Amino acid sequence: MGLGYIGLPLAAVLARSGYKVLGVDIKPAVVRSIESGDIHGLEPPLGLLVVEAIRRGSLALCDPVPHADVYILAVPTPLKKKKHQVDLSYVEKAVDSVALRLRPGNLVIIESTVPVGTTEKMSRRLLELRPDLEREGKSLIFVAHCPERVLPGKVLDEMVEVDRIVGGVDAGSTREAGDFYATFVRGSIHRTEARTAEMCKLAENASRDVAISFANELSMLCDKMGIDAANLIRLANLHPRVNIMDPGPGVGGHCIPVDPWFLVQSEPLETSLIRTARKVNEKKTAWLLNRIEETISHFEKPVIACLGLAYKPEVADLRGSPAVSIVNSLCSQNRGDLRIVEPHIKDLPPVLAGFNCCRLVDLEEAIAEASVVALLTRHNSFEGVQARLPDGKVFIDPNGVVSPGWRRSGTEAAN
Ligand SMILES: NC(=O)c1ccc[n+]([C@@H]2O[C@H](COP(=O)([O-])OP(=O)(O)OC[C@H]3O[C@@H](n4cnc5c(N)ncnc54)[C@H](O)[C@@H]3O)[C@@H](O)[C@H]2O)c1
Repeated sequence: MGLGYIGLPLAAVLARSGYKVLGVDIKPAVVRSIESGDIHGLEPPLGLLVVEAIRRGSLALCDPVPHADVYILAVPTPLKKKKHQVDLSYVEKAVDSVALRLRPGNLVIIESTVPVGTTEKMSRRLLELRPDLEREGKSLIFVAHCPERVLPGKVLDEMVEVDRIVGGVDAGSTREAGDFYATFVRGSIHRTEARTAEMCKLAENASRDVAISFANELSMLCDKMGIDAANLIRLANLHPRVNIMDPGPGVGGHCIPVDPWFLVQSEPLETSLIRTARKVNEKKTAWLLNRIEETISHFEKPVIACLGLAYKPEVADLRGSPAVSIVNSLCSQNRGDLRIVEPHIKDLPPVLAGFNCCRLVDLEEAIAEASVVALLTRHNSFEGVQARLPDGKVFIDPNGVVSPGWRRSGTEAAN
C-alpha cells in the first residue's frame, strides 16, 4: 500500500525474493508511471527491477485493495500545514481499505514512520471495523511496525542489508512479522514490541538532528566570535572521543526535519533538546540566506551562482532541501540573476522552473558569470572551487565564511 520512495523499492525487492506482490497506490499518476516503466531516477536500478518484475508476473498493480496474506503500509506521514503535528489520515485511510479485505491469520505491517502508539491504535481500529476478527478477546490477525532505515540513493541495497527492528502489538505479531522480514533481509532482525520499534525510528532521526544542530550552532557561534569553524571542528575532532559533524545549510530530506516533531507532539514537556535542535537547524538556513543577501547587497546587479540544490551530497533528492528554499527565497525577492549548478538533475524542480531569473547551468558557466558563488550542497565535484575563483568573485560556504579580503561591513568587494 503506497508505491512511493519506500513502497515501490520494497515491492521490487519482495518480487525479486520470490513473492507475488500486488502493489496499490491511490494516485492514478503514480500507477500510470510505474506501468509505463517511467520510474523516478533517484534509485538507479529500480526502474529495471520493476519492469522485469512486472514482465515476470511477480509484481502487479491492483485497484481496489486485493486479498493478500501480508499487507505492508508505506503511505505518507507528513506534518500538517503550519503545525508541527503529524497527519495520520493516509495511514488511517490505508488501514480502512485493508480492513475490508482481511482474513484470519493475515499480517499487517506499518512501515510508515509514525508516532509512538500508532500501531496499537491502528490494530484497535482494524478490530473495530472488523469485530469478526476477534474471538474471546483475542485478535485473529497480526499487526506490527517495522520502520524503514534506508539511505536515499542506496535504498535497494539497504532494504536488504541493514538490520531491521520489528515490533508487534503482541508476541504473535512480533513473531510473524520477524519471520516475514527474515525471508528477504540479510541484516539481523531485532524483535521488540510495537512502541519500542516506533520510538527507535524517531530516536534515530532525532539523534541525527541534534548532532547536526550542534555543528550548525557552532558554525554560527564561531562566525560571531571570528573563529574559522571548519578549522575549529577539525582540531576538536583530534580529541579521541569527540566527533563533531560538518555544519551545513540546515537539514533537509524527507525524514529528519519531520520525525523529531512526532516526539515533541507526544511529549512537549520532555523534549526541550529535540525541539531546540529543530529550531537551530531551521535557523541555520535563514542565517545562511541572510549572509548571502547581505553579501549581494553590495553589488548593483549581482549574478549569484548557487552550487547544489540537493539536500545532501551526491544525491539528486531535493525533498525538503535547504538549498532549494534559499534559492526560492532569492528568486521570489528578485535578489539577482541566479545560476544554479546541480550535477545530479537535468531540469530545475517545478518550484524554481517558473522564475526567469534562475537557470540551471554547468559549473564553469556559473563561475564565469557570477559575482557571488554560494556553496549550498557539498557535492564532491565542487571540491576546490573556491581556490579556482578568479579575483573579484566572492565565495560563501555553508559555514557562512566569505572569501578572505571581502569587507562584509564595507560597501564594495575588496578586489
Ligand atoms: N523516503 C524516505 O527516505 C523514507 C525513509 C524512511 C521512512 N520513510 C517513511 O515511509 C513512509 C512513506 O514515505 P515515502 O517517501 O515512500 O512517501 P511517498 O510520498 O513517496 O509515497 C507514498 C505513496 O503512498 C500513496 N498513498 C497514499 N495513501 C494511500 C492509500 N490509502 N493507499 C495506497 N496508497 C496510498 C501515495 O499516493 C504515494 O504514492 C513515510 O511515513 C515516511 O516517513 C521514508
